[in-house]
Order: sequence, then C-alpha cells, then structure tokens
Amino acid sequence: MKLEKRKIVIIGCGHVGVSTAFCLINQGLCDEIALIDLNEEKVLGEVLDLSQSIEYMNRNTHVKVGRYEDCEDAQIVIITASVPTPQSGNDRLKMLEPSLNVMKSIITQIKEHHFDGHLIVVSNPVDLMSYYAYKLSGLPANQVIGTGTTLDTARLKYFIAQKIQVDPRSVHAMVIGEHGDSEMIPWSTVRIGGKDIYSVVQDNQSRLGQEPYQQMKKDTIQAGWEIFNRKGNTCYGIASSTVGIIRTILHNENQILPVSTLLRGEYGQDDLFISVPAIIDRSGVREIVELRMTPQEQEEFNQSCQRLKSFYDLLNQ
Ligand code: LAC
Repeated sequence: MKLEKRKIVIIGCGHVGVSTAFCLINQGLCDEIALIDLNEEKVLGEVLDLSQSIEYMNRNTHVKVGRYEDCEDAQIVIITASVPTPQSGNDRLKMLEPSLNVMKSIITQIKEHHFDGHLIVVSNPVDLMSYYAYKLSGLPANQVIGTGTTLDTARLKYFIAQKIQVDPRSVHAMVIGEHGDSEMIPWSTVRIGGKDIYSVVQDNQSRLGQEPYQQMKKDTIQAGWEIFNRKGNTCYGIASSTVGIIRTILHNENQILPVSTLLRGEYGQDDLFISVPAIIDRSGVREIVELRMTPQEQEEFNQSCQRLKSFYDLLNQ
C-alpha cells in the first residue's frame, strides 16, 4: 500500500501566507506545509509558532521552513508573495509592473524543480498574475487557479445576508470578472433561499429599499480597502477563500466557485484569466460554468475583460 504524503508549499510568508497556513492546519487538510520566504528569520519564527499550535488542533501537520526543492513532491503550491499594496489610490492594478519580476523569479524556480501539481495564485493583481504564472509555468490551464472573486463573493454574500438577516450560506450569489474595480454581479442569477433577489427586494421594500443593488456592489468592491485602510493588510478572508479552493481540490468535491481561470471561448472571451464560476475537483478546474446572463450583464462582464486585456502588453514584454 502506498500512502502519499499531502504536501503544500506556500511561497510568501506575509500576513496572507501565514493566515493561509494557519487555516490549512486548522482544517487538517494536509500532512506537510513548507513555507518559503526571502526573510529566513521571519519564516523560521512563523514555522515555530505554527508548529506549536498543533497540540490543540484536530490532527498533526508538519510545518517546516521550505526550499524550492519542496515543490518537487508537493501537490499544491500557493503563491502569495507580492510587492507592498499601494498606500493610496486603492487599485490593485498599480501593483502589476513591480510584481512581474517577483512572479517570474518564483515560477522559474518552481519549474527548475519540476513542479507538476496545482498552482494557486493569490498575489495581486490576481487575474493578471495568474495569466502570467500560467504562461511562464507551462502547466496545463486547469492546474493554474487564481483566487479571483472567491473573496468578493464571500463579501457580497455577507452584505446581502446582513441586509436580509439570513445566514450567508442561504444566499446564492457570485461576483465575477476582475478581482478589482471592474468586477460585476450578475444579479439576475442571485437567489435567496431559492427566491430571486428582485422578488425578495420587491416583497421587503421597507427593510431593503427599492434599489439596494448599487450600494451592495459598492460595498463589495470597497470591502478590501475598508479593511486595508484600517489594519494595513487583509488576511483572514483571502486565506479562507484560498483554503476553500484547496479543499474542493483535495477532497475532489466538485464545488462550483468563482475562480480566476483561463477562458478559451467561454463567455465569448479568449486567452484571458478572469473569474467565472467553475467546477473544481482533483484535476483542478474541471469545467467552466457559463451563466445565462442578461445582455446588459454580459456587456458589463465584457468591459471587465477589456480592462484586464488592456494590461496584456506589459505581460508580453
Ligand atoms: C483583498 C485583497 C486580498 O481584497 O485583494 O482583501
């Protein structure tokens, strides 16, 4: 009998990388976590702290200081490394140019160690970084997944649930498009306990007002910055979204999540990483779900695609 070790490598040990490691340990999803960071003292500190949290967890997980060699037998590599988020302007796309070299150096080293598992890209601007990582890595498209709007979706569901005062898990809604200002909400597909949101709003105007949609979209887009501008980073939401994607891969769950993935004709778009709902199993993105959107919604989605495509020249340099 061959018992395979479930190993995950995390590259980048800032708030996001470490919160992701803690979330993985907490959920008992793997046997070993290797943390890689340029700052060796910091990474050792994190490894010691995480290792000493194991006693009160559900299971043992081996946490260690990683090297790129660790990618050789890892099932999953998570990239969270990035340049600092700009303090002003609140736009993730401003991080693109300085982030390209960071990503290039990481992918080169992963490739040197023949990594052939699932690459989960968290670094911002995540859609462009995922595309860049896909192109450089030579991995099959279904094995490169950007966290995309999984987090924005969690935020939207939180806002809708708060307004209507139900459990967010009773809200069926998704944010798709760029993880950033041009993301969109296909409202025509939103259901609350099976009831379409337009009817819910119509039947509950005293609580919800007549047109709560714009505000909820604004709140969702702004959510990351509301956190960032107060505490200087965001980490738990993105860590939990990342681990949500990993769980459906490792448990072969076939969950449908809005992840940043390569479109090849779907939604009338080609050669672009952007978030759309996808069925995720042990192979990675098994299938893209094509929502039936209204023409207006499709147009809004196209605009988000255009915005990302306008940066592609930089990626091809
Ligand atoms: C956020 C970061 C991860 O939205 O982009 O919290």
